[in-house]
Amino acid sequence: MTSSTNGPVGGPAKSYRAWLLSALGVIAVVLVIYYAVTSSMGRNLSSADANAAKGSTIYQNRCASCHQDDGQGVEGAYPPLALSERVAGDPSTLISIVLHGMQGPITVHGVKYNGVMPSTMDVLSDNEVAAVLNYVRSSWGVKLTDKGTVDASMVEDVRKRTAHRVTPWTETELGEQKP
Ligand code: HEC
Repeated sequence: MTSSTNGPVGGPAKSYRAWLLSALGVIAVVLVIYYAVTSSMGRNLSSADANAAKGSTIYQNRCASCHQDDGQGVEGAYPPLALSERVAGDPSTLISIVLHGMQGPITVHGVKYNGVMPSTMDVLSDNEVAAVLNYVRSSWGVKLTDKGTVDASMVEDVRKRTAHRVTPWTETELGEQKP
């Protein structure tokens, strides 16, 4: 008697549970397909576009707090990258500055600075250093005196050659040796 009363009750409850499980399964599959499709669409961006986007994000996260969104810096405290001869010049010097930082007196666009820029050696990959420097060199109307594009293999090379470095560069050191 008990089993015949349980039967009709257990039946629909069970099939409802089965229906719910398969509905959840379908939703999961749809979500997986959705993410697969949207992330492959992201990969279809040309690598130059993707790099430019990445460069500006890295700049916002790692440089703008000092050098400001518009690259004008803060007079007397953080030099204006937009007006820097070094930014416009030899990429390998720039790569060394970003990897190891810089300290001591410098003059940029006629204004003296004597601060400390921290190293990014342990936080930015070769690709990221290249992306952020290409962003900086192609922003704010910077007129390049050395027109080369920075690529990850140049960063890798400078990183190897300057691996011994533990303190930020001074301007004298940057001038004396090609880092
Ligand atoms: C904590 C503040 C700070 C951050 C963050 C910072 N910098 Fe600097 N940067 C400085 C200071 C200060 C100097 C000047 C150092 C000196 O007085 O010797 C400098 C100098 C420079 C110079 C040399 C400019 C010249 O004309 O000689 C470059 C290039 C540069 N920074 C690029 C960057 C880039 C690119 C980033 C982001 C990856 C960055 N900096 C992040 C503070 C910062």
